[in-house]
Amino acid sequence: MKKELRVRPIKNGTVIDHIAAGQALNVLKILGIIGQTDAVISAVTNVPSQAMGTKDIVKVEGRELAPHEVDKIALIAPSATINIVREYKVKEKHKVALPSVIEGLVRCANPNCISNTNEPVISKFTVNKREKGVQLRCVYCERVISENIVEHLL
Ligand code: CTP
Ligand code: ZN
Repeated sequence: MKKELRVRPIKNGTVIDHIAAGQALNVLKILGIIGQTDAVISAVTNVPSQAMGTKDIVKVEGRELAPHEVDKIALIAPSATINIVREYKVKEKHKVALPSVIEGLVRCANPNCISNTNEPVISKFTVNKREKGVQLRCVYCERVISENIVEHLL
């Protein structure tokens, strides 16, 4: 079967597959690999997917991302699959899991929150999965973020 290859297979690294269509660049942002970087990264957006209609894929070469790094992307890409590739073969495959707490990733929407002042307080939210999506609650002021989490990313 002829298979169109938009991005070539990688030798070693991490492939984040089944990302919700259009979210690849936000995934890179969450992983902290956007802007100035030495990482070898390829991303495809809005490619056809049997399961999802369309999807995005991110490939990070030469680096095996740890689950705790990658699970943060479940906030915006709950269906993502993490594939660890060694010598061209997929050696590990797992779905992202939503962490129960996230720290230093999202800015609290409350301007008066202690995490938004000059105090050395890192933002911290508890993560709750609801029917309508993910809900974040600030542990300091209890303000809830339930929509457009991407817009609150630090
Ligand atoms: N991949 C890659 N380089 C490799 C091996 C795999 O970039 N050397 C990519 C594939 O292109 C795919 C992902 O890693 O996007 C997962 O590969 P694989 O498990 O072979 O694909 P599927 O069986 O289609 O995955 P799934 O069952 O998760 O849909
Ligand atoms: Zn707060």
